[in-house]
Amino acid sequence: MTDTAPAAPAYAGPARVLSGVQPSGALHLGNYLGALVKFARLQHEIDTFIFVADLHAITVWQEPAALAQQTREIAAAYLAAGLDPAKATIFPQSAVPEHAELAWIFQCVARLGWLDRMTQFKEKSGKHKERSSVGLYTYPVLQAADILIYKATQVPVGEDQKQHLELTRDIAAKFNHDFAAPNFFPQPEPLIQGPGARIMSLRDGSAKMSKSDPSDYSRINLTDDADMIATKVKKARTDPEPLPETLEELATRPEADNLVGIFAALDGRTKAQVLADYAGKGFGTFKPALAELAVEKLAPVGERMRTLLADPAQIDAILAAGAQRAREVAAPTVAEVRKLVGFWGA
Ligand code: TYM
Repeated sequence: MTDTAPAAPAYAGPARVLSGVQPSGALHLGNYLGALVKFARLQHEIDTFIFVADLHAITVWQEPAALAQQTREIAAAYLAAGLDPAKATIFPQSAVPEHAELAWIFQCVARLGWLDRMTQFKEKSGKHKERSSVGLYTYPVLQAADILIYKATQVPVGEDQKQHLELTRDIAAKFNHDFAAPNFFPQPEPLIQGPGARIMSLRDGSAKMSKSDPSDYSRINLTDDADMIATKVKKARTDPEPLPETLEELATRPEADNLVGIFAALDGRTKAQVLADYAGKGFGTFKPALAELAVEKLAPVGERMRTLLADPAQIDAILAAGAQRAREVAAPTVAEVRKLVGFWGA
């Protein structure tokens, strides 16, 4: 047993992708570009596990009568964004109880000092830390269990999850070291790069686009219809200058930078390529082009979600089959962990 995380040796197991989204409110453009689009792309390249993080969602109060439906909505968003249940394993986290079991063991591996450094807890708990649930504090440990129970090697997420991925790597290294199992857990890599990794509020270029922002005009929801998407883009805060020539100049103008980043991410291009087309043009030209692109890319996703949600039994069947497949991978990992820890009967 040690108090610090030593460096881990190389892991030789197969590549696997894992990620998840909380069913704690309507999904927005940030979730779509930072996460869902990447999931749909990766499923063609690597064995992919994507779950609905309902255990994480209850770290803040969720109405019991609404939670199962919120879970179906996230599943519908996955499918609408292009995830294919024949390629990716799609499941609710709570349907694989091994996540919670491994999380407990990891709570005994992670150090209090590591969790004290987590900035998301500080943001989410605000001034009333002592009234937060204990789960909100230990939330990143459960996230490490989500990832490592499948021995995932790649984790596509937005930039706000970077610190949680670093903690996951520390927990993996310390577990491997403490239980003398050098190659047991991999060191998962976060997949964060690209202009969609940090989408900001449409009302304030210095605040992240978020489900919890009180202003609905701060975000584009995946369920917004074409008119609403166009209105929100046109009302987005900007400055009076035309778009600049260089990325350096763009970086000094948060609202302009955000809109160019959204354009680039939606169009599968870089910000530099977008500037090459729009440098010197004002927002009177750029915003209508962005509105048109956003409607073209997002409105069909919302449409597909509505169609899918009209048949909840089909979504439930996909989630049930996914949960069964997920348990087939998770249960053997936990059985091995139980042996390594030395539990009776393992
Ligand atoms: P959640 O539900 O807050 O967000 C889901 C995904 O969307 C990304 N994201 C963004 N990306 C770009 N710009 C934004 N403004 C933006 N807002 C959100 C998030 O980075 C995330 O990828 N803790 C996770 C859920 C989770 C998880 C995991 C993820 C639980 N266990 C294991 C990966 C692996 C969360 O709360 O995401």
